[in-house]
Amino acid sequence: MNVDLCGVSLSGPILNGSGTFDAIAARRAFGDALLERFPFDAFVSKTITREPRQGNPPPRLWEAPAGLINSIGLPNKGLDGFLAHDLPELAELPVPLVVSVMAYTPADLADLAGAVAERDEVAMVELNVSCPNVESGLVMGADPSETARAVEAVRPRADKPVIVKLTPNATDPAAVAAAAEGAGADAVSLLNTLKGMALDPRTREPWLGGGSGGLSGPAVRAVALEQVAAVSARVEIPVIGMGGIATGADAADFLAAGARVIAVGTESFRDPAAGQRIRRELSPLQGHRHPETGEPSGAATPEGANSTLRSA
Ligand SMILES: Cc1cc2nc3c(=O)[nH]c(=O)nc-3n(C[C@H](O)[C@H](O)[C@H](O)COP(=O)(O)O)c2cc1C
Repeated sequence: MNVDLCGVSLSGPILNGSGTFDAIAARRAFGDALLERFPFDAFVSKTITREPRQGNPPPRLWEAPAGLINSIGLPNKGLDGFLAHDLPELAELPVPLVVSVMAYTPADLADLAGAVAERDEVAMVELNVSCPNVESGLVMGADPSETARAVEAVRPRADKPVIVKLTPNATDPAAVAAAAEGAGADAVSLLNTLKGMALDPRTREPWLGGGSGGLSGPAVRAVALEQVAAVSARVEIPVIGMGGIATGADAADFLAAGARVIAVGTESFRDPAAGQRIRRELSPLQGHRHPETGEPSGAATPEGANSTLRSA
């Protein structure tokens, strides 16, 4: 199941969604057994910012029907803390490392991405553009020209593959993907969480400390599949598909919709070994795929084709 992703060779097509699997905590809990049976073929770090962040006040999670609304608020140690404490531990993982970064201006994003990309331990950089550009007031990833500006700033500073993580909270995600490609992105990943809200049933006040949050899990799968298909039809660069993937059949759907590889997010909270299980379930559904182009040369089985209907 070897796959080439932007010139980086992966032993299979399963990544994690940024922020949904704490590999450092898992290593502490499971020791070297985690490394021997690592659930993913590449590991994506939680998003980091230049300065440390506390994240949002609690509560930070709400269980929705078939999903999760989170308002974590990107707590992290900042660039220096990440490089000093987390990077050495993440570098011990047995798979290529993708570091996710976010900043509030294209120039700051370029500084951060450049500082991360120059580290040998890092195989690729992912730009989390689901935040406002404070100079324009627009959410970077919601607007094609804002996204292009961010990628154009980062491109000359990073000599590693650059992935742009698309937000579904955009009028036309495929247009944003095309803008990212035009500005030099090597891949796009989607989708990030959909804006969502939950009210405390006793007070009818917002439940989440951050007021609102982001919806993920099976509740968003159909939206994700449509956006992955639309983006894949629009760009030549590889697409990393995610959003509610919980089984090998779900993964087969995303690959059939045009994704080169897929990522598992919320399902890892329910089943920390979900990545491995999905890889195992996917293998007989996948047929042969060309390792460099990702093109299927065998038809997907009916199980794969019908999985969305069966699990709806
Ligand atoms: C608790 C939680 C934390 C997340 N943190 C991040 C993050 O730090 N950076 C990011 O780009 N996406 C983050 N995401 C979004 C996921 O990476 C993924 O795009 C989204 O959840 C959809 O996939 P899923 O339905 O399989 O979870 C987070 C999602 C959850 C549920």
